Amino acid sequence: MDAIEVKDLSKSFEGLKAVDSVSFSVHTSEIFGFLGPNGAGKTTTVRMLTGVIKPDSGEARVMGRDIESETKRVKEVLGVLPETANAYPDLTAWGNLMLIASLYGIPRREGERRATTLLKEFGIYERRSSKVKGFSKGMKQRLMLSMALVSDPEVLFLDEPTSGLDVQSARAIRQRIKELQEESKTVFLTSHNMQEVGELCDRVGIINKGKMVTVDSPEHLRTRIGGSVAVEVRLDRAVDLSRLDFKVERAGDTYRIYTTEPHDVIRAIVGFATLNGLKILSLNVQPPSLEDVFVKLTGGSNGQ
Ligand SMILES: Nc1ncnc2c1ncn2[C@@H]1O[C@H](COP(=O)(O)OP(=O)(O)O)[C@@H](O)[C@H]1O
Ligand SMILES: [Mg+2]
Repeated sequence: MDAIEVKDLSKSFEGLKAVDSVSFSVHTSEIFGFLGPNGAGKTTTVRMLTGVIKPDSGEARVMGRDIESETKRVKEVLGVLPETANAYPDLTAWGNLMLIASLYGIPRREGERRATTLLKEFGIYERRSSKVKGFSKGMKQRLMLSMALVSDPEVLFLDEPTSGLDVQSARAIRQRIKELQEESKTVFLTSHNMQEVGELCDRVGIINKGKMVTVDSPEHLRTRIGGSVAVEVRLDRAVDLSRLDFKVERAGDTYRIYTTEPHDVIRAIVGFATLNGLKILSLNVQPPSLEDVFVKLTGGSNGQ
C-alpha cells in the first residue's frame, strides 16, 4: 500500500479548474515534492487531501483511508503545515502546542514532553511563554512545524514550508524534513523552488495549471531537461555557435547551453571566442529554473 493514493482528483472554483483530474501516489517513507508555480493547484490539492475541502470528483486515500468517507480517520494519521498561519496569535507558543496535543487526545504529560523536545529542537524554547503575535515569520513557521509534528503523525503535508523565510529558519526546516525520513515518515512537500525539491525529495510531481505534468526523480528530471545547469553567454556579435559540440539555444543576444559539465563548455566558449576574435560580454552558469523545466516538459508552451 502506498501512503497517499490519488486518482483523478478535481476541484473547480467558479468555473476555474484549480485541480484537473490529478493522479499520483506517494510511497511510504518517501519525501514527495509537489512542484509548481503560483496558482498551479498545490494548496488546493493539499486542502483536499487533508480533509479541509471536498473534491468535486475523483478519489484519494491517505494510509488506506478514504479522504471523503473516512475524513476523521485520515486526520488522525496526518500532520499539516498549512500555507497560511494556523497558530493562534494571542496564545503563547506553548499554549498553541498544548491545544493541538489536547485535540489529538495526547495525555498532558506526554504532550508537555513532546512540546519541550520540539521547541528546543527548533530553537524557540526560550520564547515558549511569548504570544505568537510577536514572533518573526521564521519563528512562526518553526512553531507551525512543531504543531504539525506534536501528534507524531505518519504522514506530513508541508505547504511551501520555507517560502519567504530567513536562511536560518529555512535551513532548520529542511534539516528537520530530512530527519523525518529517517523516522520513516512520509512527507508531501509543496514548493515552487526547484533547488529545494531537488535537495530533499525522492520523487517530484510537477503540476501546472491544475494538471500533473510529470512524476519523476529529481535526477531524471535534470537529465530530461538536458543537464543540471545552463551556461549563458553573450557575445559582441552574432555567430554560429553550433560549430561547438554542444546543443545551443538562442534567446535574443544570449546563447544558452544545458550541460552537466559547465567547465568543459566554458572552456570551449572561451577558446572559440579567442580564436574568432569575439568579445565575451557576459558568461554565467545558472541552475535550471522551474521555467526551464516547464518549457522542456511541456514543449515550450509553459502551459499558457
Ligand atoms: N477558495 C478559492 N476560491 C476561488 N479560487 C480559488 C480558491 N482557492 C484557490 N483558488 C484558485 O485556484 C487556483 C489554484 O490555487 P492554489 O491551489 O492556491 O495554487 P498554488 O498553491 O499552487 O499556488 C488559483 O487560480 C487560485 O486563484
Ligand atoms: Mg499554495
